[in-house]
Amino acid sequence: MVQPGKMPQHVGIIMDGNGRWAGMRGFPRVEGHRMGAERAREIISASSDLGLKCLTLYAFSMENWQRPENEISVLMKLLEIYLRKELEEFQRLNIRYRAIGEKWRLPESILALIKETEEATAENTGTTVVSALSYGGRNEILRAVRQAVTSGMKAEDIDEESFSGLLDTAGLPPVDLIIRTSGEIRISNFLLWQAAYAELYFTDIFWPDFTKEEFLRAISDYQMRERRFGTVSAKEF
Ligand code: FPP
Repeated sequence: MVQPGKMPQHVGIIMDGNGRWAGMRGFPRVEGHRMGAERAREIISASSDLGLKCLTLYAFSMENWQRPENEISVLMKLLEIYLRKELEEFQRLNIRYRAIGEKWRLPESILALIKETEEATAENTGTTVVSALSYGGRNEILRAVRQAVTSGMKAEDIDEESFSGLLDTAGLPPVDLIIRTSGEIRISNFLLWQAAYAELYFTDIFWPDFTKEEFLRAISDYQMRERRFGTVSAKEF
């Protein structure tokens, strides 16, 4: 059971296992991605129902550019269809949309759609849904460092707070929980800076099978953990 008073503010999800899910069923990989997009829709709607402040979905990593060209173009097409379809739903659910990552590498048509969706939902006050696209945590940190240098920031003015403000996630709440599906137990360049104190949740379930019930299970698991942020337990005082 999810306890409303102990909700994480920001959940990040590494949606992994689409290809294996499809392979196990004798389907082409693209079918896994299509089903994965459906799941993303379900989890976004569940997040909105739960009143989650922020949900970040790792939809396309920097490393994913190395996939075969036809798989990249299928993923881009899916993303385009998804964004086109979703604007109405985002408005209905009062969702604010934002994309993070090295966006300039994305096709023009997707960039335009992202801009349109971000602008149209900018004033919404419900859940913020962030898609990490052409995203890599190291790349994000390096871009922030470059920005600090080119803007002439003084070394003594660079602290955790000011540096966080240079990252793609500027203004978003700290990441409390990172979920990864498909049995892989690693972070894979996702929200590296932001994950410093996040709780990690790994499940063997492939992303296309990660239903709302599984999402609630992950949140309940998070709620049972004691977060100490490097200090000692309150019970030990
Ligand atoms: C990982 O599965 C998933 C991806 C590389 C892409 C995630 C994309 C989606 C869920 C669909 C599009 C999303 C949106 C929000 C429209 P994998 O291909 O690495 O699976 P595998 O490890 O089993 O091969």
